Amino acid sequence: MIAIGCDHGGFELKQEILAYLREKGIEYKDFGCDSTASVDYPVYAKKVCKAITDGECEKGILICGTGIGISITANKQKGIRAALCTDCFCAEATRLHNDANVLALGGRVVGPGLAVKIVDTFLHTPFSGEERHARRIRMMEED
Ligand code: RB5
Repeated sequence: MIAIGCDHGGFELKQEILAYLREKGIEYKDFGCDSTASVDYPVYAKKVCKAITDGECEKGILICGTGIGISITANKQKGIRAALCTDCFCAEATRLHNDANVLALGGRVVGPGLAVKIVDTFLHTPFSGEERHARRIRMMEED
């Protein structure tokens, strides 16, 4: 199950991503927002992250205007590794190396065609499982 959320700056791109998820038969839970009316992105970032850390969802997708505010918020939530991606190379690398569990996108940065490819890459690339990468991920959580 994929958790997805956005603010008003990401609402339109979220519609494109939802269409892709439906077309591919990928199950998702949409945590809002539900229009282009102005909202606060931390609300939606925290809802999506909680769904992941509670074990309700496996991965998340967060979209704001730039992807920056929503990814900064996500990365302050314990157990979340959010990657703001603008290309497929980074989407693949962050799964292979960082085992990122949240993909952040900028609705005012990437077009829908590229965004869908980034999502597809993120969702279908497994963590490499290599010890050096696993060690670095463990180190992220240390004080
Ligand atoms: C909202 O206007 C905008 O600030 C937000 O979507 C995001 O880009 C913040 O980082």
